[in-house]
Amino acid sequence: MTLLPTIKQLLAMEPIGQEVTIRGWVRTKRETKQSTFIEVNDGSCLSNIQCVVESALLENEALKSMLARIATGASVEIAGKLVPSPAKGQKAEVSVIRVKLIGEAPADRYPLQKKAHSLEFLRELAHLRVRTNTFGAVARVRNRMAFAIHQFFQEHGFYYVHTPIITASDAEGAGAMFQVTTLDLDALAKSGGPVDYDKDFFGKRAYLTVSGQLNVETYCQALSRVYTFGPTFRAENSNTTRHLAEFWMIEPEMAFAELSDNIALATEFIQYLVAVALKDCAEDIAFFDERIQPGLRESLEKVAQMPFAHMTYTDAIRELESANTQFEFKPYWGCDLQSEHEKYLTEKVVGGPVVVTDYPKEIKAFYMKQNEDGKTVAAMDVLVPRFGEIIGGSEREWRLDVLEKRIEKLGLSKEVYNWYLDLRRFGSTPHSGFGLGFERLLLYVTGMTNIRDVIPFPRAPRQAEF
Ligand code: 4AD
Ligand code: MG
Repeated sequence: MTLLPTIKQLLAMEPIGQEVTIRGWVRTKRETKQSTFIEVNDGSCLSNIQCVVESALLENEALKSMLARIATGASVEIAGKLVPSPAKGQKAEVSVIRVKLIGEAPADRYPLQKKAHSLEFLRELAHLRVRTNTFGAVARVRNRMAFAIHQFFQEHGFYYVHTPIITASDAEGAGAMFQVTTLDLDALAKSGGPVDYDKDFFGKRAYLTVSGQLNVETYCQALSRVYTFGPTFRAENSNTTRHLAEFWMIEPEMAFAELSDNIALATEFIQYLVAVALKDCAEDIAFFDERIQPGLRESLEKVAQMPFAHMTYTDAIRELESANTQFEFKPYWGCDLQSEHEKYLTEKVVGGPVVVTDYPKEIKAFYMKQNEDGKTVAAMDVLVPRFGEIIGGSEREWRLDVLEKRIEKLGLSKEVYNWYLDLRRFGSTPHSGFGLGFERLLLYVTGMTNIRDVIPFPRAPRQAEF
């Protein structure tokens, strides 16, 4: 490898005057009579490394004029000695020998000056915002969580399956799909005629997937334990702090597993991810705790250990109906839980995550297993404080006749789902799974409050910049 140690690696070393070279971006430059201090960050960790240019070096005119051009945002290469730092809060600093300015960032034009910028302002600068402490920390936690997800499943005997992005079936039956076409819409509009999908790329209507579940179920019925982790798309016009039009979802699916196994998996999964974040992203979590969401670390520590509360939808409605709170949407048995209801249940009733099960079948997807009562399905949502639903899942309807009747009742096409029904025709098994919204997980772990701030380039209604 020809790569230099990162700042994270350097800061973990014992500073004994060894020669080091660092490359990164200048966060600040500060001058005193004796020295010039340059704080450099390379994104490998939250901490900057302080580089100290002693005044003796400043007698070199070339260096002096180069230093004058080094400002916040510039990229630099600095060589020097790694020495113990007298400043508090840092173990080591670089006593500078050579400085090279690589890419200038003129102060009159570079938008990210030293002052704190609002998250709204930074949203307009999605191509630069990762250079700030907050977005650097989000990016590192996002990376670690993605890896931890694979670790968790691989350690538990699950196989990773790549499900398609383009699909002809609507997994959730919610109808909020983006259509994919190569038809010339302008020409179609001019001709005024009906659309001939036979002429479209796939010879029929196609969409961006809202979930990989139906496809991953096919692999589940052969590999027993599987998961998919990929981008999903929803065209619902929800301009909220918890919805994206493009988000990433993790969907495990287990054969020979019932709702109780699903709840156990979801709980262990969340606790594992939270524990990894606390351990391996400690510096970033401490930053979020201090700057973004006071109390974050303590609440995560609790979640990593506490068993999750559990209540049925019917009990949840009872709690909401007797609540001493004025809800915008009045709760009643049969209603879809709104985010205000979910927040009330987690924050006021439970004080932590809660698994709500057995929802009315009318408000859930066609594939969920119907309960004996004829009214509810073996669904399971995991709700957390601050924003509500983080996981949605269920035991699947694995009885062919019951599933066929449900598809008919809902007016869905048996043709389209024929392959899905085959899974029930041949070697059917009770099976269960769920979907974890990756960005919701990140909201939960980082304490960030707007989902657009935990994905590099958010896509939402009327927002597809960058
Ligand atoms: O509850 P949902 O719609 O469930 C499914 O898609 C199932 N097929 C999953 C399964 O059983 N395999 O979505 C699952 C999760 C939600 O709990 C939420 O965390 C997230 O995906 N999610 C969104 N995240 C961001 N923006 C959106 N528009 C989201 N819609 C759902
Ligand atoms: Mg859901």
